[in-house]
Amino acid sequence: MSQTQAPIARHLADYRPYPFVLNETRLEFQLAPSATRVRAELALRPRAGLEDLVLDGGKGLRLISLAIDGAAPDPAHVSRDDEVLTIAAAALPDAPFTLRTEVEIDPSANTAFEGLYMSGGMFCTQCEAEGFRHITFYPDRPDVMAPFRVSIHSDKPVLLSNGNPVAQREGFAEWHDPWPKPSYLFALVAGDLVAISDRFATRSGREVDLNVWVRPGDQDRAGFAMESLIKSMRWDEDVYGREYDLDVFNIVAVDDFNMGAMENKGLNIFNSKLVLASPETATDADYERIEAVIAHEYFHNWTGNRITCRDWFQLCLKEGLTVFRDQQFTSDMRSAPVKRIEDVRTLRARQFREDQGPLAHPPRPDRYEEINNFYTATVYEKGAEVIGMLKRLVGDDGYARALDLYFDRHDGEAATIEDWLKVFEDATGRDLAQFKRWYTDAGTPRLTMAEDWDAEAGRLRLDFTQATAPTPGQDDKPPRVIPIAIGLISPNGDEVLPTQVLEMTEARQSFGFDSLGARPVVSALRGFSAPVMLERLLDDATRAFLLAHDTDPFARWEAGRDLALSALVVLSQGREAGADYVDAIGRLAADDGADPAFRALCLTLPGEEEIATRLSEQGTTPDPDAIHEARDGLARRLAEAHADLLAGLFERMAVAGPYAPDAEPAARRALRIAALGLLNRIDGGDRAEVLFGTAGNMTERMAALSCLLRRGRGQAALQAMHDRFGDNRLVMDKWFSVQVMAAPPAEAAAVAHRLARRGDFDWKNPNRFRALLGGLAANHAGFHAADGAGYDFTADWLMKMDKANPQIAARMSTAFETWPRYDATRRDRARGALGRIAAMAGISRNLREMVTRMIA
Ligand code: ARG
Ligand code: ZN
Repeated sequence: MSQTQAPIARHLADYRPYPFVLNETRLEFQLAPSATRVRAELALRPRAGLEDLVLDGGKGLRLISLAIDGAAPDPAHVSRDDEVLTIAAAALPDAPFTLRTEVEIDPSANTAFEGLYMSGGMFCTQCEAEGFRHITFYPDRPDVMAPFRVSIHSDKPVLLSNGNPVAQREGFAEWHDPWPKPSYLFALVAGDLVAISDRFATRSGREVDLNVWVRPGDQDRAGFAMESLIKSMRWDEDVYGREYDLDVFNIVAVDDFNMGAMENKGLNIFNSKLVLASPETATDADYERIEAVIAHEYFHNWTGNRITCRDWFQLCLKEGLTVFRDQQFTSDMRSAPVKRIEDVRTLRARQFREDQGPLAHPPRPDRYEEINNFYTATVYEKGAEVIGMLKRLVGDDGYARALDLYFDRHDGEAATIEDWLKVFEDATGRDLAQFKRWYTDAGTPRLTMAEDWDAEAGRLRLDFTQATAPTPGQDDKPPRVIPIAIGLISPNGDEVLPTQVLEMTEARQSFGFDSLGARPVVSALRGFSAPVMLERLLDDATRAFLLAHDTDPFARWEAGRDLALSALVVLSQGREAGADYVDAIGRLAADDGADPAFRALCLTLPGEEEIATRLSEQGTTPDPDAIHEARDGLARRLAEAHADLLAGLFERMAVAGPYAPDAEPAARRALRIAALGLLNRIDGGDRAEVLFGTAGNMTERMAALSCLLRRGRGQAALQAMHDRFGDNRLVMDKWFSVQVMAAPPAEAAAVAHRLARRGDFDWKNPNRFRALLGGLAANHAGFHAADGAGYDFTADWLMKMDKANPQIAARMSTAFETWPRYDATRRDRARGALGRIAAMAGISRNLREMVTRMIA
């Protein structure tokens, strides 16, 4: 096969059911690192008329034998290409039959970490989305579901698969999963592992064995994952009425993993960075993320596994809903307002960015070449936002009824977005035809709001318009339903109208408010009630007023952010601004009645990427160097203006006693670090140096190290950290990334270069690769250095990585997705780098699709 075949796109419109029904899957594994044997027995029957049997199977499968009802078919009826094995209908009975295959595969050569592979001497799998086809010939699509019986022969001491254990003895284990599932939920693990264990009794009395499996020596860092699992199980019963449905639940931590984690039935496999944590090695943010991802994967048991997706176009059916559920969980476990602000920050930084550029796509795409390229912020985070809007529109009761109906109606099925919307329509009587556009249309609507105040009548009118710019392949953007949460605040700071949701359905629409004594201040898009860009003319004094008085914490924070961004935009264009912002932040820093986590968020200036995004939204070409300078300058002014206040906060927010990863002490540390980050601009790094030497936890240690690097005096601290944690991969990942992130922009690519030449830059390990390349991408002015050094470094490594692990190369290529918004010099260099990648001989389908979309 030539490597320059025309790309094959898949289309939603081409869906048709698989022509065979699969009643049972039996698998037998004879594990060996370079020659694993897989025997598969599939009980099949033709669905309607008899057709050819087409089974997915990659080039890496060496076919040993094939039999239909015990007999080898005539070779003339069997054909094979790079992607599938076809058995002609002529060789099949028009009745139930058994297909037996045996293949040999080489897990030790699998550097793509898709299918069965080896990590640190252990066998493990990753099958979503289409990895199972690298294990055996199979209808590898989510709408083909079957119960699985799996036996494993191996000399590894721990042998795991999905479902319940049936037999276990030296060198052998058998597992049975009674719940019909698609192949992407299959998992197998074999290794020298130890567990920390617990038990959970479901509310209907099922006793479940819980295990978190790690490498020997890591047990003392697995406790928090177990606690998080138990909290998740309880929460899903309490809030969604969903119970666990097997006798065991296993979690395994793996060092080489392409993504965060995977919800395989009864056997979740995790990137070790989302399991292992101790105060010495993990930050508060790591703990929060571990809790959230453990919950996310556990929640998939119902939203993803019991009800799965009909096809991969429906990915957001399970991912959007499961992200929404894990966000609800975190808000219940921690501070709901802070969680909401964090989620909006992530959405804007990742999804808005995606939506504005060449990679924009709807939450439910209708075309892809490589599905792994669609595990995106749009499918996940925007998918969750869309559900949040739905819940706001139908109310909490309507949402609860719709979800009950969803579980009732579709349990055991592979469903679609249409099915999902239909349960909301049936449960609430609401017509969701227009709402559906949120799933099918790409792009972030721009919502403008203007006010018309009639003093005589005491009447306020709000005039809204909505418009969405064209996105690749979608020029026409009809209006959507937008829930706009509004509150009105009187000039003395009292709320005159508590939160109300306006439902906008037209391109332009007005809403009136009567009987107002004085002109109120409008608090708009409270709680970020819709994923839109809100534009309104607001002066800095009003923003400062909202930052001081809004009763909605999100809107309050948003007012502060707007104040900061509007100042930074002006400053980056070389003009003076920021006085109101500096004053307002001073008042907030002094307000000891406000939640420390909230104050920490407000004290953190918007990032450079965010400033660039705001500028380009306004039609201005962002200048990365000017943005860097402007942000630096404003931070320094804040520090100078409020030095005593910040120094006081830094001292007072120190947390006494042993470390706990809970929200309250974490909030104090966050505020302390925010103060430190500002003070670091004027104290030469002295505070950071003391903190680095005395910190009893990784949160403060990392913050101090980053500050020291930014003052150009981090060398001793780096060495100390390496001496102490050199053998801890997860800490060393941080060590790599912080150096690149905190490097002066002009040196960032050179720092990355130097680090990449180190012997411990184990680039085939996805975490290590992401630490370095992601660190550079996060250094906005460094990645976008005008000489193109950041682009070239990244392109070189993407090309190298593509040969080993196409998924990782494709994912990291999104560092380039904003290239069209910069100046001509940068555009030329970025396009040159992308062109070099596109021209690479033997480029993977993954990376080719990404660069083609980016330079289209
Ligand atoms: N379903 C997993 C999760 O979100 C993600 C797995 C994606 N893997 C991949 N190779 N695309 O929890
Ligand atoms: Zn998920």
